[in-house]
Amino acid sequence: MTDELPPARKRMVKPPMGGTEEGRGKPARLKTAKMRTPSSQAWLSRQVNDPFAAKARAHGYRSRAAYKLTELDDRLHLLKPGIRVIDLGVAPGGWTQVAVERGVTSIVGVDLLPVDPISPAQIIEMDFTDPACGPLLIQMLGGPPDVVLSDMAPNTVGHRKTDHLRIMGLIEIGVD
Ligand SMILES: C[S@@+](CC[C@H](N)C(=O)[O-])C[C@H]1O[C@@H](n2cnc3c(N)ncnc32)[C@H](O)[C@@H]1O
Repeated sequence: MTDELPPARKRMVKPPMGGTEEGRGKPARLKTAKMRTPSSQAWLSRQVNDPFAAKARAHGYRSRAAYKLTELDDRLHLLKPGIRVIDLGVAPGGWTQVAVERGVTSIVGVDLLPVDPISPAQIIEMDFTDPACGPLLIQMLGGPPDVVLSDMAPNTVGHRKTDHLRIMGLIEIGVD
């Protein structure tokens, strides 16, 4: 094991298609497994067989992450019409979809990856660790946010301590 990190990969974030409320019955086999790295195979296999991912597809959410925010907001009642919201690590857009569904119209999102539009949200493709990003988001929002959502997470490298430190680093930058 070396401490060297592999180069970051850019993946396309496509809204998922299909799925049912109940999820899938039998585990589905990957038809494209041979063309993928083991970690990509594992991610795709989880995605294809995950009942929450299937439920998200059935409800038109772009990611299963939508249910994390739904549960949080059902408890904390953060999302209300008229507030300003920033969504850090927005791709593919599940959290922004939930915020818009709950009446938020003033919302900006940022991600390293491209995201299909979610009206009326404004979304930019940028690295949030760029010092220019925070001020730009506030300028786009027309003022300071009432709520900052962050689900930012770097691509994992499979080394637990490294992955933990990289995730914590992003959280700290988001809190600042
Ligand atoms: C778990 S996903 C977010 C899912 C999203 N909340 C949703 O509901 O669909 C984490 C996202 O953080 C993004 N990310 C990681 N590092 C970032 C950075 N430095 N700046 C902006 N986005 C970043 C990744 O590209 C990835 O799309």
